[in-house]
Amino acid sequence: MLFLFERIKNNEEDLASLFKLKSEPNDIYWSGYTSHPNILDFENWYQEQLVRSDRKIWLVKSSENPFEVMGYLYLTFVKEPDKIIGLVSHGVEKKLAGRGLGTAIVNFVVNIFINGFIPANEIHSWVTQENIASARTFTKNGFIKSGLSKEEFYKSMNKSVKLENYFFERNSQH
Ligand SMILES: CC(C)(COP(=O)(O)OP(=O)(O)OC[C@H]1O[C@@H](n2cnc3c(N)ncnc32)[C@H](O)[C@@H]1OP(=O)(O)O)[C@@H](O)C(=O)NCCC(=O)NCCS
Repeated sequence: MLFLFERIKNNEEDLASLFKLKSEPNDIYWSGYTSHPNILDFENWYQEQLVRSDRKIWLVKSSENPFEVMGYLYLTFVKEPDKIIGLVSHGVEKKLAGRGLGTAIVNFVVNIFINGFIPANEIHSWVTQENIASARTFTKNGFIKSGLSKEEFYKSMNKSVKLENYFFERNSQH
């Protein structure tokens, strides 16, 4: 199957699609929350995302049925003194998990990065240590563990979890 990647637009359909994906139990759990977002807060948040210059959000659709939204990709730019880092996060509809879509989303971001379409020096991701599926989508696309980690309290797990940093450099020999 071919996938279409489309940047989110200011319309009800895209807002509803992203809200649905962010309300998937799996997504809520691995984002550290215990319930889905409040729709009014989410609408405000969505409007803010549309005008942010430091974040791009794509919806992933099926080429066979562009009304079927299967996943999302966020890319957030963080300026460091000597470089710009693009932070990647992604999610897929639960019923489609385990079929290669997460890997295809990371493959998309790697391809646009190595072809110069992302204004960043490196792309990174912070992945919860227990999130094996997410880590695999990155390592299968040439990301490597940097050894950096941070602790965050995840309400969903009621504990402090370890987030591990994975990165991909444009000029490295992956
Ligand atoms: C993480 C996520 C995007 C992965 O998407 P996906 O489409 O299921 O991933 P893929 O089908 O490409 O599978 C990736 C790898 O993980 C493995 N995998 C999938 N589910 C797994 C699980 N529950 N336990 C262990 N491995 C798993 C797959 O077997 C595959 O590895 P393989 O190719 O060596 O067999 C998806 O699970 C998701 O939306 N999770 C909720 C949100 C989230 O965690 N986002 C990541 C934030 S950084």
